[in-house]
Amino acid sequence: MKKKIQYVLPAILFFIFSLAHADDTLFSTNLFAKFHAGSCTICHDFWENDKNGIAFTNHKKRSDVNRCTKCHKSSVTGFKHSDDWFAQPGLYISGMDAKTTCEKIMEVLFAKFKSRELLARDLEHHLLEDPRVLWGIEGATPESGNLPFKKKETDMVEGGLDEWKKEVMAWIEGGMKCE
Ligand code: HEC
Ligand code: HEC
Repeated sequence: MKKKIQYVLPAILFFIFSLAHADDTLFSTNLFAKFHAGSCTICHDFWENDKNGIAFTNHKKRSDVNRCTKCHKSSVTGFKHSDDWFAQPGLYISGMDAKTTCEKIMEVLFAKFKSRELLARDLEHHLLEDPRVLWGIEGATPESGNLPFKKKETDMVEGGLDEWKKEVMAWIEGGMKCE
């Protein structure tokens, strides 16, 4: 009896554990880690002094908002409109946990004032088509990760665009849960 429990219990626990982890309708399952790749958070932290935002470090002399595109030009970013390369405060930033990250996204998108359908459309549009998001996903465009002076961001959203789309849609269609 004792021997049986020794094997059965871990097996049951493992089963429950993998079930919990397989729930890709939760923000925490796949998306949280991806949203916190450097290719997303370095830009979201740009104007955050207490996060060592680069507006206060290596971009101190480059923080004129009319001059970002002198360096981050279309030939570097692949953007149709070069000035889509910009940063603003008030976004989700590095160090936030899954729930706070997700709730911040909802706040910035004014989710409280939108029907579920409109919110789903807005999220889908932003996450699958925004040029800044595509820039941050490994291999999504030929220029993803490219920086001026032939530099490259290496902490990218891993797994490529197809996996990203699948995971984003599972979360949106699963009810956009902030767990
Ligand atoms: C003089 C050229 C130049 C200007 C102007 C410039 N940048 Fe940069 N930027 C760079 C370079 C080069 C890098 C790569 C890191 C480094 O060497 O500083 C970079 C990196 C970045 C990154 C880091 C991205 C990542 O994930 O690694 C962000 C975000 C960024 N710039 C935003 C901006 C914004 C916003 C502006 C305008 C307010 C701007 N930059 C103006 C040259 C410039
Ligand atoms: C060049 C800077 C830059 C990069 C790179 C970037 N973002 Fe953003 N992000 C912004 C700006 C500016 C906004 C606000 C304007 C807007 O909605 O596009 C924003 C808004 C957002 C929003 C909606 C509001 C919020 O705070 O959550 C989400 C979600 C988001 N970004 C996710 C991402 C993800 C995921 C990545 C990486 C795959 C990423 N961003 C890469 C600059 C950037």
